[in-house]
Amino acid sequence: GAPVEVDVSKMDEGERITLSWRGRPIHVVRRGEDAIERLGEIRDRLRDPDSDSSDQPEYAKNEYRSLKPEYLVMVAVCTHLGCSPSFHPDPADPAMGSDWPGGYFCACHGSRFDLAGRVYRGVPAPTNMDIPPHRFVDDNTLIVG
Ligand code: FES
Repeated sequence: GAPVEVDVSKMDEGERITLSWRGRPIHVVRRGEDAIERLGEIRDRLRDPDSDSSDQPEYAKNEYRSLKPEYLVMVAVCTHLGCSPSFHPDPADPAMGSDWPGGYFCACHGSRFDLAGRVYRGVPAPTNMDIPPHRFVDDNTLIVG
């Protein structure tokens, strides 16, 4: 599959763009400062906070799992049995209960992920969601693939 170009210049904080790359659903999420901070505060609730056993390019093996902390670029496929997790970026989302930092929820068997696609402890998904190759050609233009 050819690389896909994404214009991120009009994205608001908390917004998500979805696209397809090599037949896989890719989500691009713009994270605000608060969301970025929360990624550092929930390490002990995660199965693999440093992404040692998940699939991502070397440059995305960091707390944000991305090139730029502001932008998550992720294969939005649950690593349990491949369902599509739903996007719940709002920490105040009443559906997700208290103490929710924003992230993804897979309704198939209840797996939870943070806003970097990192999986929580105690849910069926074994690893963090995959990060595809990506790069920025300028501040507003992201290339996936
Ligand atoms: Fe997502 Fe099972 S497929 S929890």
